Amino acid sequence: MPADMHYYEPAHGHGLPHDPFNAIIGPRPIGWIGSQDAQGRLNLAPYSFFNAFNYVPPIIGFSSVGRKDSLNNIEQTGEFSWNLVTRTLAAAMNQSSAAVAPEVDEFQLSGLTPAASRQIAVPRVLESPVSFECKLTQIIQLQAADQSLIPSWLILGEVVAVHIARTLLKDGIYDTAAAEPVLRGGGAADYFRIDAGGLFRMYRP
Ligand SMILES: Cc1cc2nc3c(=O)[nH]c(=O)nc-3n(C[C@H](O)[C@H](O)[C@H](O)COP(=O)(O)O)c2cc1C
Repeated sequence: MPADMHYYEPAHGHGLPHDPFNAIIGPRPIGWIGSQDAQGRLNLAPYSFFNAFNYVPPIIGFSSVGRKDSLNNIEQTGEFSWNLVTRTLAAAMNQSSAAVAPEVDEFQLSGLTPAASRQIAVPRVLESPVSFECKLTQIIQLQAADQSLIPSWLILGEVVAVHIARTLLKDGIYDTAAAEPVLRGGGAADYFRIDAGGLFRMYRP
């Protein structure tokens, strides 16, 4: 156990130049979420409080810190797409995070092409090599330890269709590093790119 530890209780501040929380829980995969409102207006935004939560059926989820357009849209339609952010798509992903009015289409804003989905009405990002079509399963408003409600919502959805560029399938095995996925680190601007050099294998006991 290291002797010299920085200790803090988040409720009373971290006492550091930047909150270390999301640099510690990082790098995180990015949920690049496509949605549309009841009128069919498109929306696209990145969420790094994102992960997978189940195999069968596959379930993914992300957290809307505050009420945002993606949450409002998914409440209205019960559907969303997830799109993989790769190194070549990083700038477009960042552009799609702009705080713009609900009627602004971030596919268009970011120079991306909406591609028709097969099981849901919400499109996916054509330029992304992997996309999921998802149907909403739960929206859970988060609570603090004292049970008080927080204005943050965990949005969970079942993956009902998967699109994978065949170039990422090596002898049928999905090659994670080949896509050069981008993950979110901490600070204001830190990201990480996955490549084959970081791979090691460890089988379970
Ligand atoms: C890499 C990245 C990760 C983000 N992760 C989250 C997140 O997990 N939760 C969140 O509420 N906002 C997150 N944001 C901010 C949203 O993308 C931003 O508020 C966006 O405008 C929301 O769009 P919407 O209102 O169209 O849903 C993130 C932004 C970036 C660039």
